[in-house]
Amino acid sequence: MTMTSEWVAALPKAELHIHIDGSLQAERMLQLAKKNNIDLPYGTVEEVDKAYQFKDLQSFLDLYYLGASVLREEADFYHLLMDYLLKCQENTIVHTEIMIEPQTYLANGIGFDIFMPGFKRAIVDAQSRWGISVLLILSLLKHTTEEECIEVLTMADGYPGDFVALGMASTEMGNPPEKFQRLFQLGRERGYRLQTHAGEEGSADVIWGSLRVMQAERIDHGVRCTDDPQLVDYLCSRQIPLTVCPLSNVRLRVFDKMADHNIIELLKKGILVTVNSDDPTYFGGFLNANYQALVDAFNLDKEDVLALVKNGFRASYLPEDRVQKFLDELDQMEAG
Ligand code: HPA
Ligand code: ZN
Repeated sequence: MTMTSEWVAALPKAELHIHIDGSLQAERMLQLAKKNNIDLPYGTVEEVDKAYQFKDLQSFLDLYYLGASVLREEADFYHLLMDYLLKCQENTIVHTEIMIEPQTYLANGIGFDIFMPGFKRAIVDAQSRWGISVLLILSLLKHTTEEECIEVLTMADGYPGDFVALGMASTEMGNPPEKFQRLFQLGRERGYRLQTHAGEEGSADVIWGSLRVMQAERIDHGVRCTDDPQLVDYLCSRQIPLTVCPLSNVRLRVFDKMADHNIIELLKKGILVTVNSDDPTYFGGFLNANYQALVDAFNLDKEDVLALVKNGFRASYLPEDRVQKFLDELDQMEAG
């Protein structure tokens, strides 16, 4: 079936892998830096664009944490999230599961009492304006200690019901899941769904470790699974979702070019792969740009795109009946 870019762009979609700090737009970053007297090595949007050339995950993370250092007041967090939720409207994202990383803010002396009210106010406003569905993920940082992560988990106890899942992000190399065994146990006891970044720069073994030690029910990235055919079979038979981020993977050199990406190979093998933007303002595109890059590189047809979009809802933390409602809507569009 033939399709247009407009058709892809207008499909109702879910996004499951988005770091809120990775959606900070350059104009907003510069404006907040000025307001909050934070020194940045760039003064214009052009200089920001020029600086965002990454050779690997760490070179990106350095600028990513620097960018987030401009966030200081409740209203800053409101605008950060509202800017992204507005982008959701432009990208027809009807459901989003957003990673919040408190340790980034705590390092700058900003507590839950500042950022949570800002985020929650944005969600209430966006829901009343657009009816968008939003879930939050408490994302802890692998480069920090387990004790620090447990401290943050305990702080989040003051916000019951606000986070649906516990996730892990940041530097994969040298920070295996075994480092966080007790944290995962505590997260499970609190009823959080469990997910983690794995198999982005790290090997298939990190994915295995995450499944065994964390009992992760969803893997962020996970693309290195193809190094181990047994792991591919396991992910397929259990239908463990991978939240894949095509533009991110090319910008961070996980794949040299989009045509080398393995997401379509994984889709054809029956793995529950989903398309996401990761850190859209750092990697050159929000969700629709990620879909379009795949359509262009792999000459995808409507069935392929719909399979990816449907997977986004299937892999979500939404209750079964809400998932089914979104899938039914997509089926009606397919028929129409
Ligand atoms: N990988 C690990 N940590 C991250 C990423 C990523 O792609 N983006 C933001 N934090
Ligand atoms: Zn990520």
